[in-house]
Amino acid sequence: MGTIKLLTELPGPNSQALVARREAATPRGASKLTPIAIEQASGAVLTDVDGNVLIDLAGGIGVLAVGHCPPTVVNAIHDQVEKLIHLCAIVGTYESYVRVAELMNEVTPGDFAKKTVLLNSGAEALESCVKISRSYTGRSAIVVFEGAYHGRTNMTLSMTSKYGLFKKGFGPFAPEIYRLPFPNLYRRPAGMSEEEYIDDCIARLENAFIAQVDPSAVAAIVIEPVQGEGGFIPTPLRFLQRIRELCDEHGIVMVCDEVQCGFGRTGRLFAVEHYGIVPDLIATAKSIAAGMPLAAVTGKAEIMDGPHPGGLGGTYSGNPLACVAAIEAINMIRQPEFLQRAQQVGDRIREYLLALQAEVPLIGDVRGLGAMVLMELVTDPETKTPAAQETLEVTLEALKRGVICIRAGLYSNGIRFLPPLNISDDELDEALAVIGEAVRVVGAKLQTPV
Ligand SMILES: Cc1ncc(COP(=O)(O)O)c(C=O)c1O
Repeated sequence: MGTIKLLTELPGPNSQALVARREAATPRGASKLTPIAIEQASGAVLTDVDGNVLIDLAGGIGVLAVGHCPPTVVNAIHDQVEKLIHLCAIVGTYESYVRVAELMNEVTPGDFAKKTVLLNSGAEALESCVKISRSYTGRSAIVVFEGAYHGRTNMTLSMTSKYGLFKKGFGPFAPEIYRLPFPNLYRRPAGMSEEEYIDDCIARLENAFIAQVDPSAVAAIVIEPVQGEGGFIPTPLRFLQRIRELCDEHGIVMVCDEVQCGFGRTGRLFAVEHYGIVPDLIATAKSIAAGMPLAAVTGKAEIMDGPHPGGLGGTYSGNPLACVAAIEAINMIRQPEFLQRAQQVGDRIREYLLALQAEVPLIGDVRGLGAMVLMELVTDPETKTPAAQETLEVTLEALKRGVICIRAGLYSNGIRFLPPLNISDDELDEALAVIGEAVRVVGAKLQTPV
């Protein structure tokens, strides 16, 4: 007996009715990736408003490392809600706020004195990284990379790369942002080896400090150790190492955006730990609090103390309900068995997709780190032409069969897997079989065009 149980076609009538109300009441800009309305969820399993049971491979876009509604988090929120829902950390102090900051200082990489500021969202964390770096260095320039995603506020949108989907019509953007090439090994120039390509990207990075901006004007280099929205591209080791060196050489703050790749997703608590590199600041959000809105910036105490009193934070930053959820989530994720399981989940997904790739030429690349795995779809493995329409169709075919998965990538032609990391083997195998079916159906259409 499988997990998926479909009582209606998807979307069912109740989903359709609720989604119609959503469309009437909310702007199209706040769009949705599926037409399904959900009633409740547990672990990796969703029940929709028609009683259909689905498997979730999107995990709230990487928010649910510990799964939907884990009992310890639910209990902690229940207990807290009766004691203190809100105080505002600008007004006073409560223990859970302090504890989350202490925990973050303890679990992030770096054997030095650290401090943590709590915030509401990933974008706010990245925006705060910019403020902290500028305040500490007295410089204004920020270096970011092609394919990067850092958020939707004006500053972070300026730092974000993919134009059409995220930025169109929203300019002017913030000044003093310098965007440099990012080594996407799958799309390197034909005839260039991986090592030559990484050398080339490093040379362009170095050249940018002559051609675009003087390093003495750069406050921060901001990088995702594994690009998320950009298509689950792990930064090549030598490239990240060179960034660390350049930061050290020129007094630039190295910021790692671990909003999507952090908190166990890659099989380590933080993705940058795979590299043996320690950033100066680390931005976290998403899985930090099991779905409660919370984000953090953690880093060298001296840098974190750059901004003046009152320069950081906000009304809801570090809300008590979010903080008690974070304490439980962090303590779950940091356990070696949890991280080991994340790696196993990733290995299982990767193994399945690589076998599928050998069978279906629609899959051009399978990549990622740990359980952060993506398959990139192309109309032809030789030309690597992005198969954006087919990618959308695969997600719809999967949904029809009871599996939620979502896209990513600069060309919108990747399907990314961000399941709750406590998904069972049976649930994962069942969901992957559905993905396989969806890929085969769409791949067959491509082979025999009508
Ligand atoms: C790497 C990265 N940084 C920042 C953000 C922005 O986070 P939020 O949506 O919480 O503002 C995201 C969101 O997907 C992200 O993936």
